[in-house]
Amino acid sequence: MPPATPLAVPSTTPAVPANARVLSGLRPTGKIHIGHLVGALANWIELQKKYNCYFFVADWHALTTHYADTSGLQQFILDSVTDYLAVGVDPAKAVIFQQSRVPEHAELHLLLSLITPLGWLERTPTYKEQRENIQDKDLGTYGFLGYPVLQSADILIYKAGFVPVGADQVAHIELTREICRRFANFYGPVFPEPQPLLTPTPRLLGTDGRKMSKSYGNAIFLSDTETEIRSKVSNMLTDPARQRRTDPGNPDVCPVFGLHKLCSPQETIDTVNTECRRAGIGCVDCKKQMAGNLAQWIAPFTERRSKIEQQPDQVWDVLEQGSKKAHITAAATMEEVRAAMNLKQPSLLHS
Ligand code: TRP
Ligand code: SF4
Repeated sequence: MPPATPLAVPSTTPAVPANARVLSGLRPTGKIHIGHLVGALANWIELQKKYNCYFFVADWHALTTHYADTSGLQQFILDSVTDYLAVGVDPAKAVIFQQSRVPEHAELHLLLSLITPLGWLERTPTYKEQRENIQDKDLGTYGFLGYPVLQSADILIYKAGFVPVGADQVAHIELTREICRRFANFYGPVFPEPQPLLTPTPRLLGTDGRKMSKSYGNAIFLSDTETEIRSKVSNMLTDPARQRRTDPGNPDVCPVFGLHKLCSPQETIDTVNTECRRAGIGCVDCKKQMAGNLAQWIAPFTERRSKIEQQPDQVWDVLEQGSKKAHITAAATMEEVRAAMNLKQPSLLHS
């Protein structure tokens, strides 16, 4: 496969020790949108240049909510890895793997579940929020409650020092740290305490002004054509207080302006910023300009994606090779865990 040309996305890398191991994953629930790119993948591309990175497809995590119908799962896994490669995640620099291909995650999950108090899981904010908001699925399952324990296992099994995530995941990293300390109290130190690496870019708003999310139907996908982008943008919410063309607007609360900042040249951003505030530009024109720039910004990705799509065998191979590498690291950690918990004689390690 040709080397990746990462998309230009504003991103800064926080201070991390040079040889740190970095781990992150995304759930394979469909094609990625520009919110994923700005929120997670742009950061991965920067991190892989400097650190020992492990990036994975969290297929077991997807099943904690999408367990009833797994028919699309293979395609979603393939789509995810295709997207990773298309934006520039590079198998020569980072280990790209599939969670369920490294079954040691499940063994560590079991052992950590033994020491995790139920109360810690019941008060996890994402758990409470999703139980209240997701009505079309029965999430009253054992597996869904244990989701953050599985996530802890994902992180600890690679002894990751840093975990790049969005703000909504920080509580899960905190929980991982608590589980890590509890493990050390009982069995001795095996794992370093991981730290969250907050993605520096602010969360992108979708076409309806809410957080961009596939499940809200307000996302712009990296696979959208120019026509789709133009039609989505023309229907986009603007500053709700700007009712008439003659009303001055406030770009700071307008999702269209958020996207200008992502894809438009600085002078356009500056012009919109001043002209909108004195009703010097109308929303229709402002949106047209933005849609054109967004389509241009996305085009190199789309081209690259369509090339990679032609070679699914190579994509599967990347995942296969990466999963083998991840397995070696995970298996070594599990030997230490088994010894620490007296499940195995230390002298029999590696046999
Ligand atoms: N919970 C994460 C999400 O929904 C995905 C995930 C699973 C993850 N395991 C992880 C992220 C480990 C970072 C580290 O986005
Ligand atoms: Fe938003 Fe542009 Fe309209 Fe201002 S002019 S409210 S930035 S769409």
